[in-house]
Amino acid sequence: MSAFNRLLVNTLPLVPRFIVGRVAARYVAGATLDDALRVVGELNRQGAMATIDLLGEEVSERDRALAAVEEYLRVFAAIGERGLDANVSIKLTLLGLKVDEGFCRDNVATVAAAARAGGNFVRIDMEDSTCTDATLRIYRELQGTHGNLGVVLQAYMRRTLRDIAELPRAPEGGANVRLCKGIYVEPRRIAWKGYDTVRANFVRALEKLIELGIYPAIATHDEYLAAAATALIDKHGLRREQYEFQMLLGVDQELRDILLAAGHRLRVYVPYGRDWYPYSIRRLRENPEVARHVLRALIAGR
Ligand code: FDA
Repeated sequence: MSAFNRLLVNTLPLVPRFIVGRVAARYVAGATLDDALRVVGELNRQGAMATIDLLGEEVSERDRALAAVEEYLRVFAAIGERGLDANVSIKLTLLGLKVDEGFCRDNVATVAAAARAGGNFVRIDMEDSTCTDATLRIYRELQGTHGNLGVVLQAYMRRTLRDIAELPRAPEGGANVRLCKGIYVEPRRIAWKGYDTVRANFVRALEKLIELGIYPAIATHDEYLAAAATALIDKHGLRREQYEFQMLLGVDQELRDILLAAGHRLRVYVPYGRDWYPYSIRRLRENPEVARHVLRALIAGR
């Protein structure tokens, strides 16, 4: 990323909200469930699967967490009614993790039960390191009882290889792991910082998942990692249904099309909802052309 882009990334919180909203619109399906369903329908027509994410995080009121649970039940009903190829992703701090872990676990169990009734699946996103232990605890416990959950591990975390070793294995309830680099700002004490170090740990973690027979969802837009992943898929002779690639809505559609054309299964992360700001800021921080986009929006907005 250029020095100017880095400077802008550091000052993003000062950028007016309407400009952030305009530039980040590409990353979000819209404010409503209907917006998300329309985008998922289009992705399915293009041969991609989807995972629907209700935006929102860090809630401190029980009512907001319960409202999110209700919304996820509507999401599963709509997926079933429309016959969409989609599952859901959830954030535990939206479902009340910071209110009370037991309350959050019960909420996730309600969502997982609704998913199971429709033969569907729930992915638990991984948030910052204050959530890692509780996320893995809730995942392990509910995967044991429901069997239709997956979790996320971050290649930048030093603990990730150890966490992989402790995941549930078949036949007790085989694990399903989305592997990504990781997006939160973590101290060096617990997270690798070098770009190439994180890449190397991603490849090591992916190979370990494959060797242990754990289903990997390979979440990256890094062409180097996509190439490394396809080499590992070939080396270990994985069949098409034994893994998937995942990408975010609004990021590198060309790479998405290349992976689909090569015959891989690919799922797009489709966020929707009114609480779009924190997610959008995280996405803009990763956009190597953020400065150009923001300046263009500023000029257009005058
Ligand atoms: P990298 O950041 O190096 O990007 C590679 C290239 O992709 C860039 O050079 C650029 O061309 C393009 N690119 C990446 N981001 C872009 C953007 N926002 N706009 C425009 N271009 C962009 N993290 C986490 O901590 N917990 C989680 O649960 C998840 N969940 C998740 C789901 C899915 C489906 C994906 C794809 C990613 C996540 N992430 C995540 C985010 C992940 O940790 C990581 O921050 C981003 O995917 C960016 O990392 P890349 O591997 O794409 O590499």
